[in-house]
Amino acid sequence: MAKKIDPCTLVLFGASGNLSRVKLMPGLFRLDAAGRLPDHMAILSVGRGEVSREAWQADIKSMLDAKFKNGYDKAVFDRFIARNHYHANPPTDPNAFNKMKTSLSDANVFPQNLAYFLSVRPTDFAPIVEQLSGAGLLDESKYWRRVLIEKPFGTNLPSAQALQTSITKHLKESQIYRIDHYLGKSALQNIMLTRFANTMFEPIWNNQYIDHVQITNNEILGVGDRTEFYNNTGALRDMVQSHLLQTLALVAMEKPKDLSPDSIRAEKIKLLESIRPLPVNEIHKNAFRAQYAAGRVCVADGHGENVAGYLDELARDGVTESVTETYAALKLFIDNPRWKGVPFYVRTAKRMHEGNTAVSIRFKKAPMQLNNEQHQNWLTLNIQPRECIKMEIESKIPGLDIATRTLSIDGPQRQQGDESIDSYESLLLNLMEGDSSLYLHISEVEAQWRLIDPIVKAWAEDKSSVHQYRAGNRDPEESSVIFDSKDQFWRYSIELGGDKH
Ligand SMILES: NC(=O)c1ccc[n+]([C@@H]2O[C@H](COP(=O)([O-])OP(=O)(O)OC[C@H]3O[C@@H](n4cnc5c(N)ncnc54)[C@H](OP(=O)(O)O)[C@@H]3O)[C@@H](O)[C@H]2O)c1
Repeated sequence: MAKKIDPCTLVLFGASGNLSRVKLMPGLFRLDAAGRLPDHMAILSVGRGEVSREAWQADIKSMLDAKFKNGYDKAVFDRFIARNHYHANPPTDPNAFNKMKTSLSDANVFPQNLAYFLSVRPTDFAPIVEQLSGAGLLDESKYWRRVLIEKPFGTNLPSAQALQTSITKHLKESQIYRIDHYLGKSALQNIMLTRFANTMFEPIWNNQYIDHVQITNNEILGVGDRTEFYNNTGALRDMVQSHLLQTLALVAMEKPKDLSPDSIRAEKIKLLESIRPLPVNEIHKNAFRAQYAAGRVCVADGHGENVAGYLDELARDGVTESVTETYAALKLFIDNPRWKGVPFYVRTAKRMHEGNTAVSIRFKKAPMQLNNEQHQNWLTLNIQPRECIKMEIESKIPGLDIATRTLSIDGPQRQQGDESIDSYESLLLNLMEGDSSLYLHISEVEAQWRLIDPIVKAWAEDKSSVHQYRAGNRDPEESSVIFDSKDQFWRYSIELGGDKH
């Protein structure tokens, strides 16, 4: 059911940037087309350069044209474009934020509840909040003020805490919306619903029945032209610290007492804080890293394409050595009674043979073992590209003999005619609704960095050459060092009979 949204103005910093062009403006347009934006809602884009309103509106049109190749409704476009304004905020002008306040004070044009979306470089988050506060633009005495902070929130625990200290001089926790856009994905939200809106899963969702859990994000893509960003970040910080640990929290948390933002986040915080830190002297047994070497990957039309290795791509940009991982796999344990002894394998990699994001759960051996061929049950919650729930069970092969084979029950989450919502669309809507359940609490961010920082440090200090895997292949064999038992192996997306590796 649609929640009520107060009349408001979305103030978009970094509106000319890549994220805004590809996701935010098209997302806002689609929300408008779906009738989800309130009548009294304006968008003020803020950028460093002087741009006329007309030129900015023409730029927005080019963003929509690029996104919606099949065209769009003229009446919706006219309504949407009329919501859009531009304000130049040159960094050299000490009075820039006061001028913005003057512009925003025209209540006929700009509804006075203000949501600021900081789609800018992470180093600009704190200075913008400080300047908004200096101009009195965060004062909630009459209207609400919310600030959305893009990812990443810090690059380690100290920097996240420093950012938190800096922004909480001006903002209450309830005003801060820390984004992890994964949480906006419907298939991710489905993890919680699958668990708690069905009777059959909860009784077996524990160490008595579950052998291990795999949380995977594999990509066919390489780092592309983002070599500098990627080499300073790596797979662990880019994917595991936020997206994959959040996925793990949704898989493993206890049932929240209700669906309020505070209750959901309280359970996620508890879970994240109970993940056991990797012992510093045993990181090599519990974490594996690698870099892709040259190889051949599958491209959109099903053909193969030869691609360069990560170190070659860096060399092209003048970087001669790097230990930054493009493959990261961790084994984590959760110190609570439900999950005692169950390994959670979390892995992410670029340039793999397939692109897939999934939670795969393997159950323990069945009470009746007919022969050595019998597979253990798997439940897969596939997040992308296919959103589906897949269950593998053993079933009798019809005939005279007693023998089983694996039967796959594959339930697509998406049915014909279902809405296709980009994660940023739901998150933008939640920001305006004041619903922070899909945003991160600072305690979640801190718990995630606390877990990841020692691994990042150990890997950065270990200058021995990093294992190379051929682009387009499956996980490197050597990654199996982290498995808890010899019969565990990496699970891939759609193959039937998971035990056939
Ligand atoms: N792109 C994505 O898919 C993605 C995904 C996840 C997270 N994020 C996060 O979202 C934020 C925005 O990402 P983005 O890819 O859109 O960034 P971007 O394209 O590099 O730039 C965003 C905006 O920041 C302003 N800007 C750029 N350089 C600047 C400078 N030197 N000084 C002051 N302002 C500058 C520019 O606006 P003006 O020139 O108009 O001032 C630019 O439009 C970042 O925090 C990023 O980490 C992005």
